[in-house]
Amino acid sequence: MSLLQIVALATGVSACARDFLAVKRHTHRQPMSLAKRNQEEQVQWPPVLTERETLLANAFDNITIDEWSDYYGHQDKLAGRGREAAQWTADRWAEGGFESRLDEYHVYLSYPVSQSLSVTYPDGRTEDVNLVEPVLEADDVTGWEDRLPTFHGYSASGDVSGEYFYAGQGSKEDFSRLQELGVEMKGKIALVRYGGLFRGLKVKNAQDFGAIGAVIFTDPGDDGENTVANGYEAYPDGPARHPDSVQKGSCLFLSTRPGDPTTPGYPSKEGVPRAAVDDVTPSIPSIPVSYAAAQPLLRALNGHGVTADEANRTVWAGALDADYSSGPAPGVTLRLDNQMDEVIAPVWNVIGTINGTNADETIVIGNHRDTWMIGGNGDPNSGSAILVELAKAFGKLAESGWKPKRNIVLASWDAEEYGLIGSVEFVEEHASWLTETAVAYLNIDVGVSGPRLGLSATPELANVASDIFKKVIAPNGGLFNETLYDAWVRDTSGGEVGVLGSGSDYTAFVHYGISSLDIGAGGGPKDPVWHYHSNYDTYHWMSTFGDPGFLQHAAVGQYLALLALRLVDDEVLPLDVEHYAVEMRAYRDDLTDVITEYGAENDIDLAELSDAIEAFAESAAEAKALEQYALTLGDEELISVVNHKYRDFQRGFISQGGLPDREFYRHAITAPGLDTGYAAVTFPGITEGVQYDNLDIAQEWVSKTAKAILRSAEILKT
Ligand SMILES: *[C@@H]1O[C@H](CO)[C@@H](O)[C@H](O)[C@H]1NC(C)=O
Ligand SMILES: *[C@@H]1O[C@H](CO)[C@@H](O)[C@H](O)[C@H]1NC(C)=O
Ligand SMILES: *[C@@H]1O[C@H](CO)[C@@H](O)[C@H](O)[C@H]1NC(C)=O
Ligand SMILES: *[C@@H]1O[C@H](CO)[C@@H](O)[C@H](O)[C@H]1NC(C)=O
Ligand SMILES: [Zn+2]
Repeated sequence: MSLLQIVALATGVSACARDFLAVKRHTHRQPMSLAKRNQEEQVQWPPVLTERETLLANAFDNITIDEWSDYYGHQDKLAGRGREAAQWTADRWAEGGFESRLDEYHVYLSYPVSQSLSVTYPDGRTEDVNLVEPVLEADDVTGWEDRLPTFHGYSASGDVSGEYFYAGQGSKEDFSRLQELGVEMKGKIALVRYGGLFRGLKVKNAQDFGAIGAVIFTDPGDDGENTVANGYEAYPDGPARHPDSVQKGSCLFLSTRPGDPTTPGYPSKEGVPRAAVDDVTPSIPSIPVSYAAAQPLLRALNGHGVTADEANRTVWAGALDADYSSGPAPGVTLRLDNQMDEVIAPVWNVIGTINGTNADETIVIGNHRDTWMIGGNGDPNSGSAILVELAKAFGKLAESGWKPKRNIVLASWDAEEYGLIGSVEFVEEHASWLTETAVAYLNIDVGVSGPRLGLSATPELANVASDIFKKVIAPNGGLFNETLYDAWVRDTSGGEVGVLGSGSDYTAFVHYGISSLDIGAGGGPKDPVWHYHSNYDTYHWMSTFGDPGFLQHAAVGQYLALLALRLVDDEVLPLDVEHYAVEMRAYRDDLTDVITEYGAENDIDLAELSDAIEAFAESAAEAKALEQYALTLGDEELISVVNHKYRDFQRGFISQGGLPDREFYRHAITAPGLDTGYAAVTFPGITEGVQYDNLDIAQEWVSKTAKAILRSAEILKT
């Protein structure tokens, strides 16, 4: 599912692969490249690797990665239909020495039965709106018989007709603005563009404002330079988006609760009791359409309702030939007929394990395997191919006699696309073992859909994660003597580590208090346009435009493997708890800005929070001092004490009962924004209390958040 946070990394920003228009909110956070200015910032060339690191990095081979990508790109991997690719993955990992198994869950899914959309004009003329992505002769899998039609996972079945209106990106603010301007929305169909918030929340907002259906379209305004309008050829002939490409995807209300909607808080084993799903799935039908299909629908609204200027929202008018008036236009109607089949079906996680010598310390490396189409070579086959190669590389290391200190668990999640289901069910099933042993979770989803690196992580991982970039030679970097670090700092505006919100499988781990990280690489405004969640995200696209030669895949894989090696092998876990204090101070300053912006300075007192952060900083410094002392003494027992503090301190941030009205999300320091789904909100209980004008709740959460920070400080205290 993941949309990489390439451009918009700051807290509170709508993150999306190609959401170039997103406004970057001011933040007090510092990019790692600046935060570490006083440390040795010199990047060595060529990178210096240990013997073990060299063996691991050299095991990455673009020829085999190409083979794995080709395999995954020619498999039906839709959740519930992907057992063959699961078994293949287990077999490859076993060849690398991982004890591998399939874990089955029985989960709630929905499959498309029939979808149609038509528009009727005031003169009575009715036209079908094209929902089909044409078969491309140059790209074999686009014509496969079991390819999937255009649909939204978990959208409601229904046959609705009525006038329609345009509502920008479909955020709560977009709909509120239309309401304020007197646009009639009740009983009508909402037309919104992709981008910004998670698609399920667009449908939720439409539903909450009285719409009876939703149509979501791709706008080439989000595509950067490489557009047909700018004279570039469309895929498969060139780097621009194919005009008929459609973004499928889930309409779960992700920011309320991920995982199988019928089994909140417990694993979806066969025969378990099932809860109702209506609190997290839409009651109105929805359908995604291409930009070619959307253009006439938008044009029919020209001159009706409010203009784009009157709407005065940051992302409203796009790049299609229309004026993006809101409508509705009298007598112009849509009929949306969407029929879905709801099932409980088996899905399969693949779990591969190598036991470490320390049984009570585990790192998990995960990637999902399921897709909305036969291909999926960006999302997630790039990550899946990298994990197969990583298993092979660790196998080579093991052949040399190496044994890891800590357990390594590889995971290939199923049903991520419907709502992070495989990973959530796994975490719910193994919660106590993870709470006792998990040191870190490393996620890779869209490993590669372009050349620009994106890294998000919980703060204690930021230091080691940015350092490892210095160990990997950038693809073609041999020519310019560049490491991934140089590329990362340049391409992501100065080396900012993003804050984890949601949108991929790290979510459950974060909210069980486990250090987590997400790595990948995507496109910028000048790169070939990736057809996210379309039947055109294929092996042919990847090998022609996305990563010809698969060298970016190899580099990202080397990075992940070298990072994993440090986490499993270092005597003291390379988790920088003092940096967590630095980040929390910045979050606190950001929160102060939000409070000022909402005029709540006299209503909210942050003293208790500030005191807790300083107490945490003190405990973190003590833990760091103990680390030095333990290393100086070479005292293994004391080193183990320090490691367990580093492993466990985040457990303190978990608030029993969860955030207001969303029990699943329990981390007091970060959560996906209630109205973004993807992008993170820091100190979410307080920040959202202020934003939604629940000042009592905000003040209550100052106290709850402070207590969580003190619990964590207590774990670090010596
Ligand atoms: C548009 O919105 C901005 C703030 O969001 C406001 O400062 C400006 O006055 C608004 N313009 C109009 C014409 O309403
Ligand atoms: C790894 O450890 C687990 C639990 O401690 C054990 O059940 C399993 O048999 C071990 N695997 C190997 C290959 O030793
Ligand atoms: C790259 O580094 C090598 C030493 O490893 C040096 O000989 C060469 O001149 C450098 N090239 C550039 C373009 O800086
Ligand atoms: C692997 O990379 C080399 C360059 O290092 C390139 O010449 C070759 O075509 C690539 N192979 C594949 C299968 O992509
Ligand atoms: Zn994905």
